[in-house]
Amino acid sequence: MIEKKAQLPHIAGYKPCYRKLEAGKSYLWCSCGLSKTQPFCDKSHLGTDMKPVRYLAKQDGEEVLFCTCKQTSDSPFCDGTHNKLRDVYENDDPNNQINRNIPLIDHDENGKAMLGGGCYVSRVEQLILQEHTNLKIGAVISSQTGARYQSLFYAEICQGESPIISFGNRDLVIISTQGKGTITISGRDFPLEIQTGIYIRPQEAVSITNPGSTPITLYISVCPVAERPEFLPQMPVNFDDAYADRIAVIDTAKRQQTANRFFQILVNKRMGTQSVTQFIGEILFSKAFPHRHLYEESLVILSGDGYIWTETYKAKVSPGDVIFLPRKLIHSLQCTAPDGMLVVGVIYPGDNPSIDY
Ligand code: FES
Repeated sequence: MIEKKAQLPHIAGYKPCYRKLEAGKSYLWCSCGLSKTQPFCDKSHLGTDMKPVRYLAKQDGEEVLFCTCKQTSDSPFCDGTHNKLRDVYENDDPNNQINRNIPLIDHDENGKAMLGGGCYVSRVEQLILQEHTNLKIGAVISSQTGARYQSLFYAEICQGESPIISFGNRDLVIISTQGKGTITISGRDFPLEIQTGIYIRPQEAVSITNPGSTPITLYISVCPVAERPEFLPQMPVNFDDAYADRIAVIDTAKRQQTANRFFQILVNKRMGTQSVTQFIGEILFSKAFPHRHLYEESLVILSGDGYIWTETYKAKVSPGDVIFLPRKLIHSLQCTAPDGMLVVGVIYPGDNPSIDY
């Protein structure tokens, strides 16, 4: 009689496997973790209760991340669970031989530091802003700067009611970083507080009322990419009541842990977005191990200093700065502040900021 092997799965790896698939081809993913041909089955599961999972590729060039830790809840794909399997986040030594050879790049006269591969840091205080009555606005990320999926605009609103802003048929996700007032979304008013995530649905418009003398500052992410806002003569009254929850407040009780880092989802499908996700992350004094993502990402530093690294350069980052990360670019964020760093990220297209490879 054949003896049954112990119940599995076995952890075959701590990072997912990237594969580009062929339309109509079926892939047999190893679920037991014993296969020597990861991430695919080699029949090592025979004699166990585990079975491989078949995946039929939908289109040519489909890019996927197959789970190798075998603990995913989204088999055969990675769902970020691999980051929870070890007590300590996979850190990198900023002073090792490889990192010592990576030069520090300065910000240019426009406040930009280019790190190669399309990645850059932008200091918004050096950005040239366009004025429209009490609103000043400028593009930090757009197709002109290499983005393919998302734009990001920095805006300052002085006392009074701003012009009515529209980006047409796109999702808007905002993080406010200074000042208090009211945000009106297609005729519906919401209180605007500091460090709040806000979601505006396609075809809706927005205006901001600032009752105080301190400017309100906003970072407005636009998905898909847009070059400039449109200013409307009248506020449309087309607020989408099917998704009435638009304000996301930072709440440490809602944080999720990935080893010794934390994040809280602010805006995602729960609020009605298609495939844009906004999160706030807390990074302790450390440098992450270099990694990449399948989504395009923007990061706004809320507090704490550090460096963003690619394989060619590193650049200093400080509160208020924006980092742009193209898809699949190897990078690493280092926090040098003893009290840690707070960042707000927008990923698109994507719904899980803990998936890396
Ligand atoms: S590799 Fe298993 S969840 Fe990411």
